[in-house]
Amino acid sequence: MPPDVRILATLDAIAKRAAQELLRAATSAVAEKGSFTVALSGGSTPKALYSHLANDAALRAQLPWDKMLVYFGDERSVSPDHPDSNFRMAAEAMLSRVPLKPEQVFRIKGEYKDTECAAQEYEQALRASFKIGKVRFPRFDLVLLGMGSEGHTASLFPGAKALHETKRMVVRTWVGKLYTERITLTAPAINNAARIMFMITGADKALALKGVLEGPHEPDQLPAQRIQPSNGQLLWLVDSVAGGMLSIGIRE
Ligand code: 6PG
Repeated sequence: MPPDVRILATLDAIAKRAAQELLRAATSAVAEKGSFTVALSGGSTPKALYSHLANDAALRAQLPWDKMLVYFGDERSVSPDHPDSNFRMAAEAMLSRVPLKPEQVFRIKGEYKDTECAAQEYEQALRASFKIGKVRFPRFDLVLLGMGSEGHTASLFPGAKALHETKRMVVRTWVGKLYTERITLTAPAINNAARIMFMITGADKALALKGVLEGPHEPDQLPAQRIQPSNGQLLWLVDSVAGGMLSIGIRE
């Protein structure tokens, strides 16, 4: 099956389309099991979606806020009030503006000097809130992802050991090109989700996106190729410049 790629004109159009997908996912998850679990992505692209969810009156009214549990796909090694914090971005754009209680939000402790400890603590939090017994990985209802211009996703960077993790759901990872550590969900944890949605914008992503979707399978070079849900749906929302080199995709 070819990947489901939608090419939209602008970031604003991506945010609106993504919001509709999120609402659909939330509504069906709540109808099915009474809750909706979503892992947020970091970086700058998803900010438009988060703001839209918080500010659009019709959406706000339809979203089942009291049934939502919010997680993060990855975090940088900074405190939650640092400008680079993924939590801070999500908090400012959405979490602090919507009717979510603190206990509904599970952030990764980027401020810990010991990133292994932060990874283990987050894994324990996932185990407890998903009530994971024997199974190895949580089943998120929705995982949001972005992609870097060299093909990284979450904090799974080209050449990282973390790309070969098969047992753990969260790991710390050294990012040589940024001279820093990060904490990230692993590919098998992401791939166990019911739905995964990429949001990708900008001309600097065009070549890597073509490589990920149309090039040979070389996930050590292009980690976004590791994302392939084992029993779920994968949707790519890209803007016309990021998708400018693709020979596949539906223009919306
Ligand atoms: C992070 C991420 C990362 C991000 C991409 C794209 O913490 O940086 O979660 O995987 O999604 O780097 O980032 P932009 O949206 O800023 O291009």
